[in-house]
Amino acid sequence: MQMINLAKLPQYADALADEGWFVIPDAINQLAVESFKDVILKTKQTAEFKKAGIGTGHDFQLNSSVRGDFIHWISRYPQETILQEWMQSISALRKGLNRELFLGLQDIEMHMAIYPPGTFYQRHLDQFNKRSNRLISVVLYLNQHWQPGMGGELVIYRTNAEPVIVEPHAGTLVCFMSDQIEHEVLTTHFERFSITGWMLKKPIGLGFL
Ligand code: OGA
Ligand code: MN
Repeated sequence: MQMINLAKLPQYADALADEGWFVIPDAINQLAVESFKDVILKTKQTAEFKKAGIGTGHDFQLNSSVRGDFIHWISRYPQETILQEWMQSISALRKGLNRELFLGLQDIEMHMAIYPPGTFYQRHLDQFNKRSNRLISVVLYLNQHWQPGMGGELVIYRTNAEPVIVEPHAGTLVCFMSDQIEHEVLTTHFERFSITGWMLKKPIGLGFL
């Protein structure tokens, strides 16, 4: 089952083409949020969340002064129904954006992310220099009782305009051009949960250089 309502796809595509980003508040319902949270909490108990790094291959570094989150990569064929449905949903969004914008997006990669209290991710782009196949970033937030003052907001930097602050409310989905939109995660004061994905220009492993 595909979870995201794509009735407004033409508007999303226009926003992506014109501004480089768009937000869908309440992209998924609270029941689905609960399912995602269950999977993340279970994964945290039974599997490893690794400290996220920056760069790839020889350039890979763990640097807490840049980012403090912990991640767990999601399998291409996950066992959990909610993750299967999310894969299908992001694929449907990917195909829709391909149709609207002729992007040639071919694949998806995704991880769960946990930012412990006190952590952040400094201003950056989502394309690391040696690995340039990430074209569109997609982040889904899962923070059910988020309120102003709790931190962990996403800041989207724009040229010739004030930055946009995206509150990481459960069910909010944000999409932006990975190579163009500089962004930052502000220090969180709570345990912040999200699922981050990237739509890729070429399948993983084919080497895009
Ligand atoms: C990232 C990232 C944004 C967010 O994982 O690269 O920028 O709001 N995430 O979690
Ligand atoms: Mn990022």
